Amino acid sequence: MRKKILVSFGPVISTFTPTFVRNASTTASFFSQRFDSYFQPNSRDRVYACNRDIEAHMKHGSIESALKLFDEMPIRDIITWNILISGCKRNGFSREALYYYGQMVSQGFVESSSTFSTVLGMFSDEGLHQEGLQVHSRVVVLGLSLNMYVGSALIDLYMNMGLVNFALRLFNDLPERNVATWNQLLRGFGEFGISHKLELYFRMKREGVVPNQLTFCYLIRGFGNERFANEGKELHSYAIKMGWAESDVFVSNSLVDFYCACGSLIDAKRSFQVIPTEDVISWNSLVSIYAYNGLASNALEIFSMMQVWGKKPSIRSFVGMLNLSSGNVNILLGKQVHCFVLKLGFDHGNSYIQSALIDMYGKCGEIESSVSIYENVPRRTLEVCNSLMTSFAWCGIVEDVIELFGLMVDEAIGFDEVSLSTTVNAMSKSSCASLKSCKLLHTCAVKSGFDLNHAVSCSLINSYSRLGHVKSCCQVFEQLSSPNVICFTSIISAHSRNKMGMECLKLLEVMINEGLKPDKVTFLCVLTACNYSGMVQEGKMVFDSMKSVHGIDPDRQHFACMVDLLGHRGLLEEAERLLKQAQFNNDSLIWSSLLRHCRTHQNETVGRRITQIVTKLEPENPAVWLHTSNFIGNWQERCNWKYI
Ligand SMILES: *[C@@H]1O[C@H](CO)[C@@H](O)[C@H](O)[C@H]1NC(C)=O
Ligand SMILES: *[C@@H]1O[C@H](CO)[C@@H](O)[C@H](O)[C@H]1NC(C)=O
Ligand SMILES: *[C@@H]1O[C@H](CO)[C@@H](O)[C@H](O)[C@H]1NC(C)=O
Ligand SMILES: *[C@@H]1O[C@H](CO)[C@@H](O)[C@H](O)[C@H]1NC(C)=O
Repeated sequence: MRKKILVSFGPVISTFTPTFVRNASTTASFFSQRFDSYFQPNSRDRVYACNRDIEAHMKHGSIESALKLFDEMPIRDIITWNILISGCKRNGFSREALYYYGQMVSQGFVESSSTFSTVLGMFSDEGLHQEGLQVHSRVVVLGLSLNMYVGSALIDLYMNMGLVNFALRLFNDLPERNVATWNQLLRGFGEFGISHKLELYFRMKREGVVPNQLTFCYLIRGFGNERFANEGKELHSYAIKMGWAESDVFVSNSLVDFYCACGSLIDAKRSFQVIPTEDVISWNSLVSIYAYNGLASNALEIFSMMQVWGKKPSIRSFVGMLNLSSGNVNILLGKQVHCFVLKLGFDHGNSYIQSALIDMYGKCGEIESSVSIYENVPRRTLEVCNSLMTSFAWCGIVEDVIELFGLMVDEAIGFDEVSLSTTVNAMSKSSCASLKSCKLLHTCAVKSGFDLNHAVSCSLINSYSRLGHVKSCCQVFEQLSSPNVICFTSIISAHSRNKMGMECLKLLEVMINEGLKPDKVTFLCVLTACNYSGMVQEGKMVFDSMKSVHGIDPDRQHFACMVDLLGHRGLLEEAERLLKQAQFNNDSLIWSSLLRHCRTHQNETVGRRITQIVTKLEPENPAVWLHTSNFIGNWQERCNWKYI
């Protein structure tokens, strides 16, 4: 067994010569001294004294002196070796420590539990899993597997190897565990095994283990990532009870991070406020959450405080601030953040920040600035290109969207669903829109496998429908395995745009039967189609169901549609009643449109009432007066003519 370990250490040891390994003369003196000391009576006391000296040297980082003492020792015991190995490790000389471990075993010393926990920890940290496994077999042979310290080290090793279940088994086998063992396991679960973490947390409570601050930090981070708000709050109250929430910098900062991750702004702020400013670590979490919630002034305040305290904003903070500027179309804020970015040298090489900058300038309508940032980007990534592309689209420069797409293909940058759907949409609005160009992009989507993507499909449906090719729209739609509300709305809109009212109604029914919830846009498409197709009964039914069945308040546009639909058929009083109940009963434009219908149908009774309403709504607007007076004039003419 021992021999096997030595062989397997080969690659670690042989490629490595410790920087401070003794030279030939010290080795010679070592042998002579060793021989002498055997004849000294109190050699055990001397070993003990030497060990203490080595330990003291190691503690002060004077590793050379420690090794000199070690070399001069005539007799050593296991404690000497343990002190040497763990001292090397503590001072950052892991490979040297492993070298001495090899020496120790080859000289016939048998490891103690503390040797194992040191050595296993090193194998685990250095990623030397194979060697670690061989040490595990020595642990078993020497009967130390149930030792708590060795067990903890083994758990860490297996966790590092990703063998979570095996680590858990070792953990369960341990007859006793302390809080450090628990922490080892929790740390191992890291960001991923949150379900394990939660389970462990409850088990820990059951077994009456008292968590410490480190346990708290591991747990709360996991809870934050998974937004387990209730469990986190419970932990928080525990931390308050223990007095850590304010006294422990790491605990208090992890609380801020937790509440930020859960999106509870108020709690995050409260936890932040109890931390003395110089101890704040979680600045960036706070900036991000404020930015994410669109609270520009708060985000900016924290952002500036960070500058005062010399804290560096993270990429996430910068991106959050820039996103905030684009969302609010606040070019001033955006430029300020851009200055910070330049000052801190973040502009080069980070494509998240570059993309956010391009996006910000684009959304604020300064497309030249977007282009100039794009041109200075050292490496054109997909994100950067997409940001420029969506900026072009946002500013309505559709030709450049198409050109950029061509460039991305030519320069092998590639494209994704965002680039493709943006280009398809731009193409349909450009002067070169044609069935051919649409088919070309469709083929491109099929070849790249994006044709089943919802965004791409919707933009294809949209393009084909603009060209009047409803059949192609249906083909794209039928490919989708589980179309969502937006896909259904797109296909309904495609039919509506091409004045196919019945099909719209059928699709609406299918959609509702699939358990999807139509939204305002869906209903507007259906009502528009009903208006175009003159489907009065159906239109009325759909309109009524909006509020009564789906709980959606009709907008101005829905009413305008209904007024046209009813008015066109001469159902003037019905339209009048509808408008009077609506919250848009003060909208002179809709009333004017009803007035036009009265004129077309030459209905004086209703026409007069509506004229009164319109002139009352906009007494100051000369256009309205002109409009209505013309109208009244016409009637009077007609009336006179009638009586002549
Ligand atoms: C950017 O802001 C929008 C809202 O304006 C939000 O939906 C989006 O998630 C934000 N993105 C990032 C990366 O913060
Ligand atoms: C309703 O349809 C008519 C044509 O039938 C059209 O002129 C009118 O603009 C449509 N109204 C709305 C609100 O779409
Ligand atoms: C005006 O329209 C209403 C129904 O909207 C109808 O009852 C009435 O007879 C119409 N009047 C004239 C003069 O056409
Ligand atoms: C119409 O009334 C609503 C409130 O019901 C109000 O918000 C809106 O500004 C008013 N519009 C006009 C044109 O007066």
